[in-house]
Amino acid sequence: MAKSSTKDDFTLTDNSTGKSYTLPALTGSMGNRLVDISKLYPQTGILTYDPGFSSTAACKSDITYIDGNKGVLMHRGYPIDQLAKHSDYIEVCYLLLYGQLPTPEQKEQFDTDIKHHTLLHEQLIRFYSGFMRSAHPMAVMVGVVGALSAFYHDKMDITDPNEQRVAAHRIIAKMPTIGAYAYKYSLGMPFPMPRNKYTYAENLLHLMFSNPAEDYDINPVLAKAINLLLILHADHEQNASTSTVRLAGSSGANPYACVASGIASLWGPAHGGANEAVLKMLGQIGTSRNIPKFIKKAQDPDDSFRLMGFGHRVYKSYDPRATVLRESCHEVLNVLGINDPQLELAMELEQIALKDAYFIEKKLYPNVDFYSGIIMSALGFPTSMFTVMFAIGRSVGWISHWKEMLMDDHHRIGRPRQLYLGETERKFNPMDKRGHTEKKTSWSWLWGGGR
Ligand code: ACO
Repeated sequence: MAKSSTKDDFTLTDNSTGKSYTLPALTGSMGNRLVDISKLYPQTGILTYDPGFSSTAACKSDITYIDGNKGVLMHRGYPIDQLAKHSDYIEVCYLLLYGQLPTPEQKEQFDTDIKHHTLLHEQLIRFYSGFMRSAHPMAVMVGVVGALSAFYHDKMDITDPNEQRVAAHRIIAKMPTIGAYAYKYSLGMPFPMPRNKYTYAENLLHLMFSNPAEDYDINPVLAKAINLLLILHADHEQNASTSTVRLAGSSGANPYACVASGIASLWGPAHGGANEAVLKMLGQIGTSRNIPKFIKKAQDPDDSFRLMGFGHRVYKSYDPRATVLRESCHEVLNVLGINDPQLELAMELEQIALKDAYFIEKKLYPNVDFYSGIIMSALGFPTSMFTVMFAIGRSVGWISHWKEMLMDDHHRIGRPRQLYLGETERKFNPMDKRGHTEKKTSWSWLWGGGR
């Protein structure tokens, strides 16, 4: 608690005791005012309650800024639309990781460093054969990326900046190889070697779609679209997967294991899994005639159906990534000569939802996942690989946040508290004394029916 308060500070009054506490204010370089509650518990014994962390900043960060009301997203001060227009993914990786846009020499060096880490250890490649061919590629990603920790653990001193750098470069470099091999494995096809003559996006296309029996020509339209997708997914401040990586890393865990935990979190349909869910939903809707029925379903409080690709915890206006992708979606489909009825359906759905009172009132706008699935489908990616593509792009964000956290001298192990609603202390009843006095266990709870 601040010793002397200023007019910017906050006062918390405990009505039950009449005591008041001064809580210091914090201001960042941009954005909301914050109240510092870090000393609240040690000094007052009071905890705060904030499920889903809607009102809690868990760290300080210099990497990404979002203004959800205005639809602003900036990395290190550069607006996302400028990066999408003028940059390439490797440059954005450098920016996120090191804080500045690279000079030509720095970019070349960084590009070379990344290219020198794209191969997988032969032992790691054997991990794939332990999976069912039908396994979801995100399950394979969690396993194989986590397994990197078994290859690079003994030598790893996470406090050494040089080792942090090498770990970051390895993650950025190996993610396309690991992701593409998950796809090739599902098809029973041989694993192609990464090619250093290609850019990051071109290499990803080559790893995914080349066939050793034939020459593979990189289509520049596809490479441009991949580059854009990767840039748009590179970072998004303290989202669920990034916060998971930070929380896992806060205990000093191995960085590859931390990134695997981020992949697990990303997989959920409320987060990165939404791109896959959007396409499934469009398939379910089928034709524009059915749109009103699904819009109604999404508003029914007794129906768990949600309009996938709509809504965001932070954006209460258009997701700026969706704005960029929306344009690119049309361009890519035009250039490729694809007349995609699902895109038409998506556009109609978007227009109807944007005019609907429920969606207006709750400020539910299309998010990046609404368009990314359509574009990836046009590029030839199977639905199950959509979230893998997201994970490949986001890996630089995860590792940049991990590195930033470790470099912060004040970082502590993440350890949220809880509001306890369980039994108060009770006496242990031996088995032969238990009977009608014990509460019955609810079978519906045991079998997942909720509580
Ligand atoms: N369809 C219908 N209703 C919705 C939707 C939706 N897509 N999203 C939110 N709502 C409603 C909720 O039911 C809730 O209504 P209520 O106030 O009557 O209870 C209200 O809007 C607020 O929603 P919350 O779930 O409280 O918002 P939260 O910030 O927790 O969730 C989330 C955000 C998870 C993204 C949510 O909007 C959602 O599930 N969207 C669909 C999945 C999706 O597209 N996820 C991708 C997110 S972007 C990303 O990860 C890259």
